[in-house]
Amino acid sequence: MPLKILITITLICIQNSISLSLTPVLIESQAIDAENIYEFPKNFSFGAATAAYQIEGGWKEDGKGPSIWDTFVHNHPEMIADGSNGDVGDDSYHHFMDDIKALKEVGFEHYRFSISWSRIFPTSTIVNEKAFDYYNKLIDALIVNNIEPVVTMLHYDIPQWIQDTGGFLNPYFIKYFKLYAYTLYKNFGSRVKIWITFNEPFESCVEGYSYGSTPPLITLRGVGEYMCAHHVILAHAAAYETYKAHFKQDQRGMVGITLDSRFYFRKNPQDSPEIIDRFMNFELGWFAHPIYSKTGGYPQVMIDEINERSKKEGRAWSRLPEMTEDIKKFVRGTADFLGFNYYSSRYAELDTSDYNPSSNPTITEDSRIRTSIDPSWKRAKSSWLYSVPQGLHDALVWIKDQYDNIPVLITENGWSDDGQLNDDGRIEYFRDHLIAVAKAINEEKCNVIGYTAWSIIDNFEWRKGFSERFGIYHVNVTSPTKERTAKKSAKFMREVINNRFIGQ
Ligand code: BGC
Repeated sequence: MPLKILITITLICIQNSISLSLTPVLIESQAIDAENIYEFPKNFSFGAATAAYQIEGGWKEDGKGPSIWDTFVHNHPEMIADGSNGDVGDDSYHHFMDDIKALKEVGFEHYRFSISWSRIFPTSTIVNEKAFDYYNKLIDALIVNNIEPVVTMLHYDIPQWIQDTGGFLNPYFIKYFKLYAYTLYKNFGSRVKIWITFNEPFESCVEGYSYGSTPPLITLRGVGEYMCAHHVILAHAAAYETYKAHFKQDQRGMVGITLDSRFYFRKNPQDSPEIIDRFMNFELGWFAHPIYSKTGGYPQVMIDEINERSKKEGRAWSRLPEMTEDIKKFVRGTADFLGFNYYSSRYAELDTSDYNPSSNPTITEDSRIRTSIDPSWKRAKSSWLYSVPQGLHDALVWIKDQYDNIPVLITENGWSDDGQLNDDGRIEYFRDHLIAVAKAINEEKCNVIGYTAWSIIDNFEWRKGFSERFGIYHVNVTSPTKERTAKKSAKFMREVINNRFIGQ
C-alpha cells in the first residue's frame, strides 16, 4: 500500500509552524542519457531518517531517565573514537524545528525518527508526561509541514532500568515492550500511521549480547545473540498483535520491523546458488523468516547447523531456542511491511574446515561464512562501508522471492565522510543506489514503497562519535546554536524528489 494514501491526517495546528521560502527547483543541466532514465512510481515516498540517541541530546531533561547508551558513554568515554557523547550533540530536543526546516527544504515526504523509551518510562512503568509534549510538538510540526512521521519504537537505546532486569535476555522484556508499544499507539497513533518496532535487531543482539562490543557489553558468544533475537521477535509480534487488537480499526496504520542485511555474492562461481540463501538466511532470514515466510520459524539452515554443532559440543539442546508450533503461529504474518536498512555487501564462501567444538563460536562462525571485498569497490570513511549498489538491487529481488513480494520500505541507506559540504562521494552513492532501487522496481517488479536516506543531519555515529558523518546537512556541534547547513547532496536529493526519476 502506498505510504501517502494511508494517512487520514488530523491536522493539529501548532503555533510555531515554520515558514518556508523554497526557491524554484532547477534541474541540473547535466546531460542524461534518455535510455538510462529510471522512474519512481507515483506514490513512492522519499524520506530521511535519524534516531533518538544520535540527535536528541537533552539526556536528562524534563525527567528523562538514562538509557544503556547514556550509561555506556559516561562509563567508557575511551570507547568512543573522539571521546564525544550524545548528552547534547545535535540537540534536536531544542532544535527539532531546524531539522524539519531541512527536511522541507529538500522536499522529503516522510521523516523516520525514533522515540526514546527512557523519556517515556524513565525509571519504571510510570510514564513521564513531559515526554509526550516533546514528541507531540515534533509530530504535529511534521504534519503541518506535510511530512509523514515514520516512528521507530526502539533504536538501540533500551532504558537502563529495563537492562537492569536483564534486557533482551529476560522474557519479561516482551511484556515491557508491549506496554511501551501500547502507550505509543495510544498517545501518538491518531497522527502516526507507520510504526517500526525495532531497528536492526541483528546488530543489537550480535554486538550487544554476543561480541559484547556495544551496550550492554554482554559477551555470551553463540548463546546471547540467539536468546536476544528470540525475545525481540516475540516482542515485535506482541506489539503487532496489540495494535491489531486495540488500535488498527480506528487508527488504520501499519506496523513493521526494520532489518538490516548485506547481500552476499558467490565468491566462487562454481558454488551452488543456494550458498547465497544460506548466508542471507543467517543474517536477514534469522528475523525475517519467522515473521514473513509462508512456513514461519527460524530458517531450516540455521536450525540444522546450530543443532548439529550443539550436539558436537555435548549439549542436550540446541543453542538456538526452539520455536514451538504455537510460537510460530503467533509470530508469522505479524508485519504489514518490511523496513530494510542497506549499506553494503560482500563476497562470500563457505568455511569448510572441520568444526572444533570448543571454539566458542558466535553466529558468524556458526554460519561458516568467509567474506571478502572487491578491491574496486569505493570505501566511505567508515571501514565497513563499501559502495555496492548491485547488492541493494539483488537483496530487494531476494526479499521479493522469499517473502511473497511484501511491501518494502527502505528505512536507511547512506554514506559517511568527514562532514565536508562538497560531498560528491555521498551524491554518487545516493545516485547509484537510487538507480538500483528504480531498476528493482521497474525491471524486477519489486514492491518497494519508499526510500529513506540516512541521515538528514550529521549525528552521533555510535562508537565513532562525530568523527564519521552521514548527514545531508552539516551540524556545527560545537556551537551553541547548532547550525544545520545544507551540503551539496541536499540539492541533489531535492532534484531527484522533484523530478521523480533518476538518470545515469
Ligand atoms: C544504524 C544507524 C547508524 C547507521 C550508520 C545503521 O546501522 O541504524 O543508527 O548510524 O547504520 O552506521
